[in-house]
Amino acid sequence: MALSRKTSKTKRRSPSYEAIGQFYDSLWTENPRAWTTARSQMLEPILSHVRQVCELGCGTGISAIEFARRGLKVFALDYSREMCRVTREKALAEDLDVQVGRADMRSFRIPGQVDLVTSEWGVINHLQRRADLVQTFRAVARALRPGGYFYFDLHQRKLYEGGWTQTLMGDGVIAGAGTEFFAAQHGGYDRTSGKGWTEITIFARRPGGLWERRRERVEEIHWPHGEIVRDLRRAGFQLLRVSDFTDINSAPSPKKVHEGLRTMYLARKKGR
Ligand SMILES: C[S@@+](CC[C@H](N)C(=O)[O-])C[C@H]1O[C@@H](n2cnc3c(N)ncnc32)[C@H](O)[C@@H]1O
Repeated sequence: MALSRKTSKTKRRSPSYEAIGQFYDSLWTENPRAWTTARSQMLEPILSHVRQVCELGCGTGISAIEFARRGLKVFALDYSREMCRVTREKALAEDLDVQVGRADMRSFRIPGQVDLVTSEWGVINHLQRRADLVQTFRAVARALRPGGYFYFDLHQRKLYEGGWTQTLMGDGVIAGAGTEFFAAQHGGYDRTSGKGWTEITIFARRPGGLWERRRERVEEIHWPHGEIVRDLRRAGFQLLRVSDFTDINSAPSPKKVHEGLRTMYLARKKGR
């Protein structure tokens, strides 16, 4: 089965994730407990109505693999070839039914329609222009059956101003490959444009002992809640639930808070 590879005519400025794909799981796997709890509170009640799911910006397939293990039919889409490769490899290793495809979230198409589209860990923040938002939400609506669900999250300004402006260092070993590496990350945030960025440098030890340097720059945009709600409506969605965090360890608020850290949204495509 072929997944659509149509690319948008607009210039794409999202990061490639080609340089960091194989290190991703070792660097960023731990989700704070409060966030995982809120995620399951939003998703568990609907999962019994879900047979097919499409994960947008699947990255290394963390959620896609989890859904496939539950017996759901899964489409896992990402713009990065490297992320697609990692997800495909993981699904193969467990013999799971995951259809992995390279696609731009603004213009993707899948065969038929699914019950749920998910997009997690700031994937929507990678969209650079307001027009991209409604274009993406319309593509999601097209992929969903009437009454189908759309679950996604957004990073907020406080997260960029806090975490992204600090210098973070880490090291590890890629599971399976045994590659030793260390990494440094530093970025910033510009309130006027709403743009956050982070520069990631990784040194990986290659066979023979030489160290290879890899670099990646990730840019994200803070999208205000009002614009999200408006564009969801324009694309034919009804907003069902919001969980908004002010702090990494605090319980979520069921309403949008003024200066949040991270927000989770559950919406439903209108119609039956
Ligand atoms: C921060 S990662 C999140 C990955 C995964 N969802 C997770 O929870 O770990 C963001 C992902 O979005 C993908 N991405 C960015 N822009 C995209 C686009 N326009 N279309 C599809 N995927 C995109 C990146 O390649 C990357 O894999």
